[in-house]
Amino acid sequence: MTVKASEPRAPNGIEPWEQALLFSLEPHLSSDFTGHDLFHSLRVKQLALVIAKSENLDGEVLIATAYLHDVGRGAEQRGGGDHVQIGIRAAGDLLPRIGFPSAKIPQVLDCIAHHEEYPWAASSNAPALTKEVLGFQDADRLDALGAVGMARCFAYAGACRIPIWNPLPPEGTWSHGKLSRSAFAHLLEKIVRLRDTMNTRTGKYLAQRRHRFVVKFVEEFRQECSAAFPEACVVASTLTGPP
Ligand SMILES: [Fe+2]
Ligand SMILES: [Fe+2]
Repeated sequence: MTVKASEPRAPNGIEPWEQALLFSLEPHLSSDFTGHDLFHSLRVKQLALVIAKSENLDGEVLIATAYLHDVGRGAEQRGGGDHVQIGIRAAGDLLPRIGFPSAKIPQVLDCIAHHEEYPWAASSNAPALTKEVLGFQDADRLDALGAVGMARCFAYAGACRIPIWNPLPPEGTWSHGKLSRSAFAHLLEKIVRLRDTMNTRTGKYLAQRRHRFVVKFVEEFRQECSAAFPEACVVASTLTGPP
């Protein structure tokens, strides 16, 4: 693609392929309201670069993956298929046309393909993951933790039309593509477990503070809902049947 003179300028210091990628993806990622928008990509990119530097990973692979991994979220939300597969197709289509190093394209596709895999859902014969995949998983998961992670969790619930809280117990398990009973249930089923899925030393370190914030948030949220709990259980069982 060509970048028109009228388009806003990207921050200085980025490669032409990254600028082209940024502007070509902007329409997809600025129409997302699930918390997987362009700003998620930019935060993940910065986290990925920190991890890449300290873990000696390929920064270009991680930058391209940060932009492309969730590009299909909007389409997935509208019933248009799995965003992982959409992201792989978008990367295979775009990267060869914008001057991204061709030898690294398979690594980007690999990172996108595995970014939604979690250890609790891993099969025993799963292939070994590359260090770039492991580093990218950490960066993406870090943006689901901390204050930003909480905000994204509740935004996602709104976009999926699920309530912020339901007093019935969480169903306990979560996997990619499954909706939790509420945003709060999603915190318990997925978000509080993320710290222990970090792969790299840097990811484990960065997750600590964000995890503590999530745990504190969970305690406060429970406390604030406690007075309404008995009545809410009656209402919830009326709406959904006995648990
Ligand atoms: Fe994703
Ligand atoms: Fe993501």
